[in-house]
Amino acid sequence: MSERRVAIVTGAARGIGAAIARRLAADDYIVLLACRDSQKGETVAAECREHGVDALVVAGDVTCAEDCSTLVKTAIGHYGRIDLLVNNAGITRDNLLVRMKPEEWDEVLRTDLTAVYMMMRLVTPYMLRARRGRVVNITSVAGITGNAGQANYAAAKAGVIGLTKSAAKELGSRGILINAVAPGFIETDMTKDLPEKQAKAALDHVSLRRFGKPEEIAAVVSFLASDAASYITGQVIVADGGLAL
Ligand code: NAI
Repeated sequence: MSERRVAIVTGAARGIGAAIARRLAADDYIVLLACRDSQKGETVAAECREHGVDALVVAGDVTCAEDCSTLVKTAIGHYGRIDLLVNNAGITRDNLLVRMKPEEWDEVLRTDLTAVYMMMRLVTPYMLRARRGRVVNITSVAGITGNAGQANYAAAKAGVIGLTKSAAKELGSRGILINAVAPGFIETDMTKDLPEKQAKAALDHVSLRRFGKPEEIAAVVSFLASDAASYITGQVIVADGGLAL
């Protein structure tokens, strides 16, 4: 079994997931990067290795149960342990409710909520055996406040909060701490196509008057994974520059 702690980060090829992978490597974690685009993932893995730790790209789709199982088996097969699971992979398929197609609803729910359940279901048995472990789920302020045009996304992200709290209650007595991070507007590919007018309007509601950086979310994940957060479970840490105030 590896002496170093092992983390799985889903959707780690870019954006917030890539920043989380790099940050955890800097924190001395071996990182398994679960990516659909394994070529992009390799670039991030190489950056992780610059911190002197092992990093492994596992290609796959988090909505596919078999891919999730392969990911977890790869982690255990290579390193014999999983200390931290970060459920970060996510998508948006925005539309007004009256126009929202069933496939837009399903795709977002499957990626942003069901995959989180699936990964937690697969990883927690190993944490139970070890009597320790951490899970950090990336939700969104949209899951707390709701957002016009994002009924599917807000429902999925609110679901992640319910899942996080319920699992924290179930598994706390076994030394497994489960929390969520709710980012506001963060500068990534997900938000780069926001029309300028909409981006400006959003910015007017952010107290800090700027969008966040992926590294500012990675720092919260790093804290929740650390010994400093040993008495925190079932919480949603909002990192939104004051958007949802
Ligand atoms: P992004 O679009 O830049 O990255 C998402 C990553 O997830 C990509 O690498 C993508 O390939 C991966 N992914 C998506 N579906 C997948 C699947 N089925 N299987 C495997 N990987 C998959 O987005 P960003 O901004 O980095 O978002 C990361 C997380 O943060 C998401 O859960 C998102 O909902 C959440 N978030 C982002 C905010 C933002 O303003 N950027 C705000 C609040 C939450």
